[in-house]
Amino acid sequence: MANKNKVNVLVLGSGGREHALGFKLKRSKRCGRLYFAPGNGGTAAMGTNVTDLPFDPVNTKHADAIDYFCRQNNVTLIVIGPEDPLCGGLADRLDKPGRYVFGPTQAGARLEADKVFSKQLMRATNVPTADAKTFTDYDAAVNYAENRETPVVVKAAGLAKGKGVIVCDDSPQALDALKTCMVDRAFGDAGGTVIIEERLVGQEVSILALVDGRNIFVLDPTQDHKQVGERDTGPNTGGMGAYCPTPLVDDALMATIQREVLVPIVDAMRRDGTEFRGVLYAGLMLTAGGPKVLEFNTRFGDPECQPLMMRLKGDLISIMIATCEGRLDKADLSWDPRCCCCVVLASGGYPGEYESGKPITGIDDAQTDPDITVFHAGTALNKQGDLVTAGGRVLSVCAMGNDLKQAQQKANAACEKIHFDGAFHRTDIGYRVM
Ligand code: AMP
Ligand code: GLY
Repeated sequence: MANKNKVNVLVLGSGGREHALGFKLKRSKRCGRLYFAPGNGGTAAMGTNVTDLPFDPVNTKHADAIDYFCRQNNVTLIVIGPEDPLCGGLADRLDKPGRYVFGPTQAGARLEADKVFSKQLMRATNVPTADAKTFTDYDAAVNYAENRETPVVVKAAGLAKGKGVIVCDDSPQALDALKTCMVDRAFGDAGGTVIIEERLVGQEVSILALVDGRNIFVLDPTQDHKQVGERDTGPNTGGMGAYCPTPLVDDALMATIQREVLVPIVDAMRRDGTEFRGVLYAGLMLTAGGPKVLEFNTRFGDPECQPLMMRLKGDLISIMIATCEGRLDKADLSWDPRCCCCVVLASGGYPGEYESGKPITGIDDAQTDPDITVFHAGTALNKQGDLVTAGGRVLSVCAMGNDLKQAQQKANAACEKIHFDGAFHRTDIGYRVM
């Protein structure tokens, strides 16, 4: 089976994002064997799940085991999906001659890992962002928050699994948030330093770009829906759905974002000695005063990745290798002109407590239409080999449509065909522009 021209790939991660990346990688002419570590119930059907390769990045034994696995199996492209291993430096440890690692080094991932660093870099490069102040001293933070007249957002400076951001309406809420972060340490060490930021109003969009150190290729704009309830109500989640492209960002605004946000950051990183390679994701608020950065991520968003992969044309293995080699200007990237809507099917109780191990039925029935693809996130195969729930966000149901309305209707109809105990989803993904 060994074919010199084929590329064996290892995808690290287990979410809908990683299943969607696998779906595109598998369609590449160059795709050889496809491995996932640990993968999920869906990736098991398109490749091999390797379940004995944990990747705590600070554990050198883990990096050594992945390195050994890749040598044994002639894996020459490693794709790192989630932020934790990137921020911990796994890409640095796996970077060996004869192999491509898709994902930034630890120095590059600092843009996501360290909100104080990224704020400073934005300030130094005049990238538009919310005004903010950093505190390590609780009393000073309280004093500042008490004396603000406009609403603020309190952010733990470190990585907090998407949870370390508390949007406050008034100063009592801000004081509560400071106590949660700095005294109760609800987000662990990530909350030892906090950023108190002006609260911006506007529509939020996710702008993701491939960056090869120098060249930037901006992907079509997406909008994520973070809150659990219809019409953006209830607590924040990892993301309940996303659609692409969003009409909120037209070509002119995209050019502004590229010029005012992406280029200055990538150039500043390079000047400071870091060639950023991988995905640079700017979470932006479109305010009355123009787009402003809420945060940077240094990986594909989940669920943004799913509609992006549904619409991406071109060979993902070649695109990823071109990103690693600094040849993005030569890569072949284009988009299916249709719209994609991704709806997340979640476990009852999410983002709070929920139960796992519920049998899932109806997925095949939901995706008989070639324009519909169901990506797995929190799923697993139980001992009997049946598909069961294994997480809060269980499935990402993606549908292509001629417009957003059609895509949303198809995705919602597909969701209704899938069953597991406690399943729920939002029916209004994309409502902000419909
Ligand atoms: P982040 O992880 O920094 O993107 O924050 C998570 C969510 O909190 C964002 O998606 C926004 O909805 C909200 N948020 C963060 N920063 C601000 C801000 N300065 N103003 C208003 N909302 C914000
Ligand atoms: N969908 C938001 C994120 O991946 O961070």
